[in-house]
Amino acid sequence: MLAIVNTPRNETPIELREVAEPQVADDEAIVEVRAFSLNRGELALLARRPEGWQPGQDIAGIVVKRAADGSGPETGTHVVGLAEQGGWAQRVALATDRLAVLPEHVNFAQAAALPMAGHAALRILRFGDMLLGKRILITGAAGGVGRFAVQLAALAGAEVTGVVGRPERAEGLRELGASEVITQIERAQGLFDVILESVGGASLTSALQLITPHGTIVVFGNSSGEETPFSLYHLFGHEGIRLQTFFSYHPDTTTTLSADLATLVTLVEAGKLRAPIGLETSWHEFIPALTALQDRQIQGKAVFHVSF
Ligand SMILES: NC(=O)c1ccc[n+]([C@@H]2O[C@H](COP(=O)([O-])OP(=O)(O)OC[C@H]3O[C@@H](n4cnc5c(N)ncnc54)[C@H](OP(=O)(O)O)[C@@H]3O)[C@@H](O)[C@H]2O)c1
Repeated sequence: MLAIVNTPRNETPIELREVAEPQVADDEAIVEVRAFSLNRGELALLARRPEGWQPGQDIAGIVVKRAADGSGPETGTHVVGLAEQGGWAQRVALATDRLAVLPEHVNFAQAAALPMAGHAALRILRFGDMLLGKRILITGAAGGVGRFAVQLAALAGAEVTGVVGRPERAEGLRELGASEVITQIERAQGLFDVILESVGGASLTSALQLITPHGTIVVFGNSSGEETPFSLYHLFGHEGIRLQTFFSYHPDTTTTLSADLATLVTLVEAGKLRAPIGLETSWHEFIPALTALQDRQIQGKAVFHVSF
């Protein structure tokens, strides 16, 4: 079968190459991948992982072999899934507790946009507890996680302010539910009950001064790559705040991955959540898309169709 393979030492960062069929464990189904998406976190993985490694986390496709232990969806079922790796391929083996069934009206491209960014946004927002009426500030709002978080926070009744890097990156955010969009975090007005922070560096330093006493800042990314200067004196007037980390590989004890994916899919089917697709193309166009994501040119998610 064909798969995208890491080639960090070559002129191009990846290649589409013939590889062996996936090895399958008893609790895994084999999914024929029809569409997949790319996450910023995977850019860093491509640089760090060795030659020949097979990347790919977000996938949507059709079960072509049900798990041997009888768990999960039957052969022929349309599914969405979050793999640890190997998903940018014609077929992937995926544990059934990392899959959710797709309803008829959610297509493969919409579904492929959901797993990493959507489930991260869902889980990060749970740290805010009851969001009704709360003021939420979301940095990196124009990106994949940001566009899901804006929608989910607004759906939960929060008043959402999004932070973007330049005015054109604000496109579509108000339609998704942001009541305000600003181009610099320093321009934020008032204090926030919850701040979702993924830019790091000066952005996180500013966030520390925008949080209400006993509020929560969820730190889940460092897109800027900058370190964050921090002093306790920044926090005078912001007593009792919680600085909460989030890492998606850390299991959530309150819900399963399948359940979270099913929640996202149900919201999309009901028309309450939009898959924020900024680029939809063939997997043969992967390299220019990778560069565009790196350069902050994509409004939301980049989704790729797999050909056979
Ligand atoms: N902890 C976890 O489990 C987890 C899960 C998913 C994602 N993440 C992290 O969360 C962050 C967002 O992920 P994503 O998939 O939504 O990425 P994305 O689609 O590339 O969005 C990143 C956003 O960050 C903003 N940004 C501001 N300063 C930046 C800089 N110096 N370099 C790059 N981007 C900058 C960009 O906004 P503008 O273009 O408007 O400036 C962009 O919209 C990433 O850091 C990712 O690694 C963490």
